Amino acid sequence: MNIIKLIVNEKEYHVVAEPHDTLAKVLREKIQLTGTKLGCEQASCGACTVFVNGKAVQSCITPVMRVAGSTITTIEGVADQNKLHKLQEKFVEKGAIQCGYCTPGMIMSTLAYLEENQNPTTSDIKEALSGNLCRCTGYKKIIEAVEAYVNDEQSSINDNDTYKMVGQARPTIEAVKKVQGTADYADDFKIKNALHCKFVRSTHAHAKIISINTRKAKALVGVKAVITGKDLPIKFGVLPISQDETAMAVEKTRYIGEIVVAIAADTEEIAAHACKLVEIKYSPLRSFFDMKEACEDVGTDEQIHSHSKFNNNIHKKAELRFGNQQKGLANADYKVDVEFDFQGLNHGFTEPHAATAWWDENGLTIITATQVPHYLHRYLAKVLEVPMNQVRVIKPYLGGGFGGKSDPFPHEIIVSHLSRM
Ligand code: FES
Ligand code: FES
Repeated sequence: MNIIKLIVNEKEYHVVAEPHDTLAKVLREKIQLTGTKLGCEQASCGACTVFVNGKAVQSCITPVMRVAGSTITTIEGVADQNKLHKLQEKFVEKGAIQCGYCTPGMIMSTLAYLEENQNPTTSDIKEALSGNLCRCTGYKKIIEAVEAYVNDEQSSINDNDTYKMVGQARPTIEAVKKVQGTADYADDFKIKNALHCKFVRSTHAHAKIISINTRKAKALVGVKAVITGKDLPIKFGVLPISQDETAMAVEKTRYIGEIVVAIAADTEEIAAHACKLVEIKYSPLRSFFDMKEACEDVGTDEQIHSHSKFNNNIHKKAELRFGNQQKGLANADYKVDVEFDFQGLNHGFTEPHAATAWWDENGLTIITATQVPHYLHRYLAKVLEVPMNQVRVIKPYLGGGFGGKSDPFPHEIIVSHLSRM
């Protein structure tokens, strides 16, 4: 443990840091400047871009020890006393912000680039921002905002035209917060004395769980609770016909990465260490990695979900037909036979999942990156067996979802249960 000095946004800080702490972690967790966002934590998305001694760096991979004594600028230091920087104004005006999670990184990378090249072409701007990923905007408006700034365009928004709303672009109401890095997303909230949770996930696509030994993990100093699937056996699912999910694997695992054990501890590092001390014995069952094979009839032991109606691994059959296809085919000049195969895709939102839960005399409160608080509300009440009026779900700003944050997620149920314990 070391005490290091950082000058951040012209203010001097002395912080206690571990040798493995990143600059992003120190900025967000010790200095409470959460405008610096974490998307990938592996130098791929650019959301965490800040300046160190005037140069843009990805703070998620910058060891804080290496920049001790440096001068840092974060997105919170770009506006002058709440007066937006002209580039921030152009982002607002041009609608270059949707979820806003990539925005601080986009602005920092742009400002760094413009220090080197004050007259960039459109392709220069595209090249300069190629290390910053945006899932929402399609980049067009971001490029337009940078061009408008470079060309010192006059504002196209005339606030005196109060009644001329229709037919002209207006900035979104939260745009100013998002360009300043003051919009709070799920992982930006800090709760007093919070514990941290980590999971042990299945390494098998399909396997019976023979035994789980959590003794060593429980004995580790700083570990507060260890749970397995048996603690949360009640099933849930968004559709009435699909009440077949459990928050954790119960008796068997059904996919690689399914949560088998969850651990709450004083720090993230202790929780992660405790996960390594858990011993799980599996007996592998037949796994399915091929779509056609997965549709074949199978034995009971090979069914991923035992309640499947079809003696195979098909959950639901759906067929969509429009018009009279037979007639259409009979009259067609050409007939083409095509088969389409595609893999499952991740929705690729920029903000990772995050949830914080606590209980008090009113019941459970959870702050979480969700698109549909109502689904979560319903299934937290069901799985945790509490009345719905004792469950409060808070959805803050969301760093993209695209459907991928719609369903209730295991981690939301698990942290709610652990906090109750
Ligand atoms: S590049 Fe640092 S969080 Fe993605
Ligand atoms: S606005 Fe860029 S990721 Fe959402």
